[in-house]
Amino acid sequence: MTGTATPTIDVHLTADDLRAALENDVRVGLTAEAKWLPPVWFYDDRGSALFDEITRLEEYYPTRAERGLLEAHAAEIAARSGADTLVELGSGTSDKSRVLLDAFLAAGSLRRYVPLDVSDGTLWTAANELVREYPGLEVHAVVGDFDRHIGLIPSEGRRMVAFLGSTIGNFYPEHRRRFLFDLDCTMAHGDSFLLGTDLIKDEKKLIAAYDDVAGATAEFNRNVLHVLNRELHADFRPERFQHVALWNEEEHRIEMRLRSLEDQRVPIADLDLEVSFPVGEDLLTEISTKFTREGVEAELFEAGFIVDAMWEAPEGEFLLTLATPYC
Ligand code: SAH
Ligand code: AVI
Repeated sequence: MTGTATPTIDVHLTADDLRAALENDVRVGLTAEAKWLPPVWFYDDRGSALFDEITRLEEYYPTRAERGLLEAHAAEIAARSGADTLVELGSGTSDKSRVLLDAFLAAGSLRRYVPLDVSDGTLWTAANELVREYPGLEVHAVVGDFDRHIGLIPSEGRRMVAFLGSTIGNFYPEHRRRFLFDLDCTMAHGDSFLLGTDLIKDEKKLIAAYDDVAGATAEFNRNVLHVLNRELHADFRPERFQHVALWNEEEHRIEMRLRSLEDQRVPIADLDLEVSFPVGEDLLTEISTKFTREGVEAELFEAGFIVDAMWEAPEGEFLLTLATPYC
């Protein structure tokens, strides 16, 4: 194996791109009749650290359940995929990825790890740690948006693309369709796709996972307001918004909202905009869809993938699916 002592880092998202996207999302989302923001804006350095805290909460089972599945099946996943390149979308701290890296390295096939994330600070830290922890492994990090830049990810080698943590659950159905179809279009014969999805379960357990007693999720949710204050010189008072996590039975998803605790008008100086929040009005900040095995298989098939194997965590907590493009 050849390697370098430092990671290679491609930057496809500049500060200007991010700024333009944030301005657009805030203008569109906060002037809509039902106010909303996309969850990508949670993840500045503080938001990424808060998410990391969430993954260690007693109530937040998805990370533990997925890690358990990876520990039990990573050797089989490595053998089935035969990949020499592990690409990971929304890799964050690459914490669970180490379970995959260990198994792929033990199988003797792995040459390259390609983590992609929008959160550049977290990605830099992870990439630098990984080159130290895995001498000889080529780490080629990509600062990018998985909605816009999957076509720009290095395409050498036989690749397994991992999309873990049920981050796909944060997409609306039409977004999932487009994302999976776009991903399928970038894949070559022999490549594979490892997808982590959370499963539908008891409502109480779901709500607890998104409304923890310690309040870490509430802080994560309100973090988006801190981001808007800092980046756009907005004047949100985060304490005037209540964290709400509710289960939408019809759409089988958790919805995270910020509910205005009073009548308030919030100036957003850089956009020359003032937004009114009557008391009780919600700002939808994230959906977290929960799936069935059949649903995952059907959505993958519609996008051009055939399921190779599925592994389910005890008590139906979480699902890992390995799939391959069928043409
Ligand atoms: N995969 C990790 C992290 C999940 S948190 C895990 O399973 O624990 C979601 C991650 O996706 C964060 O690191 C966030 O920065 C990243 N992310 C969110 N929106 C993104 C986007 N549009 N493009 C790229 N990365 C994104
Ligand atoms: C990253 N994503 C899959 C997490 C989830 O569970 O939807 C984000 C999160 N939001 C609140 N807690 C965790």
